[in-house]
Amino acid sequence: MSRTVTIIDNATGKKIECPVLSGTNGPDVVDASAIYRELGMFALDPGFLSTASCRSSITFLDGEAGILRHRGYPIEQLAEHSNYLEVCYLLLYGTLPTSNQMTDFQNQIRERSVVHEHLLRFYSGYLYDAHPMSIMVGVTGALSSYYHEALDINDPDDRDLTARRVIAKMPILAANCYKHSMGHPFAYAWPELGYMENFLKMMFTRPHLPYETIPLACKALEKLLILHADHEQNASTSTVRLAGSAEANPFACISAGCVTLWGRAHGGANEAVVRMLNDIQHPRHIPKFIERAKNKSDPFRLMGFGHRVYKNYDPRAAIIRKACHELLNELQGINQPLLDIAMRLEEIALQDEYFVERKLYPNVDFYSGIILQALGIPTSMFTVIFALGRSAGWIAHWLEMVADPDFRIGRPRQLYIGSEKRSYVPIEQRDGPARKKRS
Ligand code: SDX
Repeated sequence: MSRTVTIIDNATGKKIECPVLSGTNGPDVVDASAIYRELGMFALDPGFLSTASCRSSITFLDGEAGILRHRGYPIEQLAEHSNYLEVCYLLLYGTLPTSNQMTDFQNQIRERSVVHEHLLRFYSGYLYDAHPMSIMVGVTGALSSYYHEALDINDPDDRDLTARRVIAKMPILAANCYKHSMGHPFAYAWPELGYMENFLKMMFTRPHLPYETIPLACKALEKLLILHADHEQNASTSTVRLAGSAEANPFACISAGCVTLWGRAHGGANEAVVRMLNDIQHPRHIPKFIERAKNKSDPFRLMGFGHRVYKNYDPRAAIIRKACHELLNELQGINQPLLDIAMRLEEIALQDEYFVERKLYPNVDFYSGIILQALGIPTSMFTVIFALGRSAGWIAHWLEMVADPDFRIGRPRQLYIGSEKRSYVPIEQRDGPARKKRS
């Protein structure tokens, strides 16, 4: 007998059976479609705390156990043994590539590692001190004005080409945000360099100075992008899915993902963490900030702490914390004061009842900014780096959704709490008792 959940409306005695569906891992789900169909009611779940929006086979995470897997592979193993482009392939196609598949994928990405010259003109429309994410939102959206020869979302080849275009062009768009802010000339990808080397060289090379790839920087950034590549149905991925469900231009959907990611509660937190650590200035000031974070009348929150899903240590934060130590040891203490404050802050917070009882742990954003700053990446570029990493997840979810036989437009409902029906009142009758006109 198939498992169901029974819902009884005790006002009418009406009883419905909602099927229970099981996945590979994680909680079962209740198919709630019968609630409206048979009871004429909606299910209300602000913030979607207990709502599954779709079926997906890309990422599994268990917030209580601190587990994160992409296509079944634990994030710890991918961070240790893989590279970002291989993780992109895994997210897009569901399997780790053979060496031939990887070579072909690398070549395809390399062939597309360029943008239309006209698109580069978009940057000049931004002030030099525009926030780089405001530029990213614009230029990723601008991609939607190109490639119209291959945007049939019902054509698997067009979908695949679009995905490879996103992976190939995001590093260029991201690096140019930095170049624009510095007033430096844009650089073009080098065919002989790998994906990560190209990105860093496009960021930091200057025509009149020698440039040398720093393997340590490539390795650290590779790990960071792997850790940011995907994270189930987070806010920005859900935005990409919802925009894509309306059959919107996929590049415009990526721009929508950038918009959501930029929020401080989401991907904008990595930038906010470093600003917070700089504001703290010294470990002796930590208690004051902890008290502010606990004070409900103070809007200040401990940035980089807490998570909607992880009620345990974010496995990515643990990996980044370790990478932080390794990198800063190699770089002879650059950023060490910031790391010292972060570690002391973590230590104090994790002993404080307020954080313990709410299961607030460091998340992926808590340590990532320290690494990025040590690599010479300015704070304002941190969320751009997050967007670069996450673009693989965004486009992988877009591909999965558009190819889903149940593909349909997403359209949530609501609990209406506004006015009852009322009639229009002409404006001359709205100003209360008519004031006697002065004679
Ligand atoms: C990312 O979804 C994803 O997967 C996101 C992400 C990804 O990879 O895509 O993992 C990336 O966005 C990580 C999160 C980065 N954001 C921050 O670090 C900003 C600081 N964190 C908080 O804003 C908050 O923790 C959220 C937004 C991350 C989670 O918000 P929730 O789930 O709505 O948490 P909540 O408001 O229900 O918190 C429960 C309690 C509340 O207190 P009470 O009402 O129970 O008294 O914990 C408190 C909150 O006030 N709380 C915090 C806090 N986070 C939660 N108090 C102080 N400092 C914090 N950081």
